[in-house]
Amino acid sequence: MANTILVGAQWGDEGKGKIIDYLTDGADVVVRSQGGNNAGHTIVHGQKKFVLHLIPSGILRRGKTCVIANGVVVDPVALVGEIHGLAERGIKVGKNLLLSDCAHLVMPWHRLLDEQRELRKGKNKIGTTKRGIGPAYGDKAARTGLRVGDLLDDKLFAEKLKRRLEENNAVLKSLGAKPIAYRPVLASYLAAARELRPFVTNTVVWLHDAMARGKNLLFEGAQGTYLDLDHGTYPFVTSSNTTAGGACTGSGVPPHRMDNVIGVMKAYTTRVGEGPFPTEDEAVGSMLHGMGREFGATTGRARRCGWFDAVATRYAAMINGIDELAITNLDGLDAVPTIRVCTAYKLGSKTLLYPPTDTADWARCRPVYAEFPGWMKPTSGARKFSELPPAARRYVRALAELTGAKLHIVSVGAAHNETIRL
Ligand code: IMP
Ligand code: MG
Repeated sequence: MANTILVGAQWGDEGKGKIIDYLTDGADVVVRSQGGNNAGHTIVHGQKKFVLHLIPSGILRRGKTCVIANGVVVDPVALVGEIHGLAERGIKVGKNLLLSDCAHLVMPWHRLLDEQRELRKGKNKIGTTKRGIGPAYGDKAARTGLRVGDLLDDKLFAEKLKRRLEENNAVLKSLGAKPIAYRPVLASYLAAARELRPFVTNTVVWLHDAMARGKNLLFEGAQGTYLDLDHGTYPFVTSSNTTAGGACTGSGVPPHRMDNVIGVMKAYTTRVGEGPFPTEDEAVGSMLHGMGREFGATTGRARRCGWFDAVATRYAAMINGIDELAITNLDGLDAVPTIRVCTAYKLGSKTLLYPPTDTADWARCRPVYAEFPGWMKPTSGARKFSELPPAARRYVRALAELTGAKLHIVSVGAAHNETIRL
């Protein structure tokens, strides 16, 4: 296996955690390069279900190294909690985890500002995960952020924290929120720092060294293409580059060392949070929620659901340079007699094959649908492509063709073995 970037080709929650876990067999190192603990990657291992937020999904496998690279924003207290949670369930985190000293810290004021900004937006809210992600990346861009490396010197950290807290408390007060007390934050961050110190390193040098030793890297994208800060449905996006380029800036591994981009997409579409979603369909949502599916792994929110949107995935293939596709959750459509796929948008009298860049225009687009006969049979027992019902095979082939990439993996259930490789 070569160096592979895995990205979500829709609005996140495409089932990336499961596909990463599946592909980890052929990788030595799994790298997170953007986002923070807004992510929720669900992996079913044997009888156990794990939800990871910050730690790359490779952590469940022996002999794999997991890297939280420079582009991630890290809430150190949440990261320590995640490490403890894994330990309690028998997963040892030690030399198999590395944390970049350049990764920015999510601070308590980021979470409060996230909440305040959402409150003030009222009905125009983004629907964030309230993990402080936007304000943390905001500080990074404004050059006022604190980084993991700052945690390593208690005295300097205490001074920097004091200064940052003064400014942010003034902002919080002006918004009518309660200011944050200095001492408890200092204590909890220094306690987390003590636990995280053994993992902290220059991950750029480490990754280049690993490549020199012939190791294969797997870049685990978080969120999805249309939550990308530049290419998504702005402002209804997250604050990092969730698309393939983000893996390079977020890790210090240059573009020419990347060999392959895999796009993960559901056999239908979901989205959590506000923003345009032309193929949204309440009946699809009630069906999937009725099956106990499509509730958020991080916030527990019911996800908005709709038909597969090939206009969106076609553009995602372009932005990310997707070579191969992993189509997940095919089994979610097992009981649908007629399945719709959006092949184009209508915006007024215009027919669009790619989404409009203006978010308000995108919200006005009407889907043009093609219809596919359903297979009305369970698919989760299939292990080979030939074992899928013919109508299911035709359906996934059509999704790949409409998106314009090669079909590589079809997932028919959450478990590791419920996977078909083509
Ligand atoms: P934030 O990343 O918490 O600022 O949230 C911004 C938008 O991205 C909201 O619509 C969230 O629901 C969405 N979002 C953030 N992380 C994820 C994720 O891991 N999966 C799906 N949606 C996400
Ligand atoms: Mg998720």
